[in-house]
Amino acid sequence: MKFLVGALIVAIVCVALALTVIYSGLYNVSQANHDNALVNWVMETTVKRSVQKRAKGIQVPDLADTSLIALGVREYRSCVNCHGAPGREPGGMAKGVWPEAPDLAKTADEWTPAELYWIIRNGVKFTSMPAWGPSHDDRELWAMTAFVKKLPHLSESEYKAMQAAAGISGPGGPGGPGGPGGPGQAGPGQGGPPPMPR
Ligand code: HEC
Repeated sequence: MKFLVGALIVAIVCVALALTVIYSGLYNVSQANHDNALVNWVMETTVKRSVQKRAKGIQVPDLADTSLIALGVREYRSCVNCHGAPGREPGGMAKGVWPEAPDLAKTADEWTPAELYWIIRNGVKFTSMPAWGPSHDDRELWAMTAFVKKLPHLSESEYKAMQAAAGISGPGGPGGPGGPGGPGQAGPGQGGPPPMPR
């Protein structure tokens, strides 16, 4: 009985503490306010475990399919501003993003194809990573996955050659500033706005 009363008091104190933190405005929600190592660890570990659990059982198609990768090169124009590409720094917007948008050429190998697909399809809550599932069909999502999986092993010149083969011009393709300003439009840059994620 004593134990139950003790447990109840501890529970009430925990709830009261949590409510105090929430209602006091103590937590700074600014993206410019980078969290400390503990909060970062909690976030990263939560994301990692959540993705690993949910990606189990996803059937992966043939990601070496060249037509799929070519489609992925085109779709990746929506990602360059945040994630960068071989020979191309992320855009200025990426400086204002926390948690940071990782360099996928460095991190893609830490995830299985099914996990990458799950992240691309669903996005990551409470971060700037959008869910592309609501605006893209499954083939396009797998195309993005196939291309992201290739990123760690891609040189700048190989990336440029892939862009040219996919009918994209410019260093970051039309997704970059000064590009033609629309998906699928090759040709000289007209300084159009980068394409919005569909
Ligand atoms: C507005 C910025 C933004 C855009 C645009 C964006 N991402 Fe992200 N992405 C992020 C952020 C921020 C994270 C890190 C999320 C986290 O901390 O868990 C992320 C994480 C990821 C990850 C997980 C990698 C890792 O190591 O954590 C993948 C894969 C990914 N993005 C793919 C894409 C693809 C593919 C596109 C384009 C179709 C894209 N992203 C567009 C911001 C963006």
